[in-house]
Amino acid sequence: MRIDVLSIFPDYLAPLELSLPGKARAKGLLELHVHDLRRWTHDRHNTTDDTPYGGGAGMVMKPEPFGEAFDELGVDAGTTVIFTTPSGEPFTQALAHELSTRERLVFACGRYEGIDQRVIDHARERAEVREISLGDYVLNGGEVAALAITEAVVRLIPGFMGNPDSLVEESHEDGLLEYPVYTKPKEWRGHEVPDVLLSGDHGKIAAWRHDQRVRRTAERRPDLLAASVVGEWEIVRGTP
Ligand code: ADE
Repeated sequence: MRIDVLSIFPDYLAPLELSLPGKARAKGLLELHVHDLRRWTHDRHNTTDDTPYGGGAGMVMKPEPFGEAFDELGVDAGTTVIFTTPSGEPFTQALAHELSTRERLVFACGRYEGIDQRVIDHARERAEVREISLGDYVLNGGEVAALAITEAVVRLIPGFMGNPDSLVEESHEDGLLEYPVYTKPKEWRGHEVPDVLLSGDHGKIAAWRHDQRVRRTAERRPDLLAASVVGEWEIVRGTP
């Protein structure tokens, strides 16, 4: 997979050199390029924003630098352009899986009041476009969202995980949150590891873990529970 990131704050993306995406690069699974959008400006002040037509607060990112960047980077039908924006579709594990199948991602990070709408319309004429939100809150810009999306997607690239089994029981893979985990020592500051985990009974441990996942999801994220799982939780609680 090749990922290009367009930002007026490329230093924000420095963590991509580290840890997980860094490992994917070292394994040859990922080619990553972070670009300063100002490279595609031509005035003395490297201007990337201007006042909004129609008036209103704040500044809007100009279309020309993005257009020239798309041209130079060869954005085409084989590319998915991702605009990170609070008005996009919510980012989920399912969407991370979908994006992990793409050959080429180009992130366009907005700042201020957003990017001129014609950049998005133009990108749609030449590539697949996704407008993605990290959540129902407003960040100062799209860089943190691009970082988070990259990290979630890259670890799903086939061949990245040493042991792909570790992906299976994660939160959000099957609609349930993960069970609580424990390691040594058996007792710490008066808190014990649950007996069942020391029992060696794999059937009982699996049942306990599943029960914990259902309880956690019901308590913290009832919205995630499918009707069948709601039924299961009602059985666990003993209430219809
Ligand atoms: N830019 C600003 N806020 C954002 C959000 N919640 N998600 C993605 N990009 C953003």
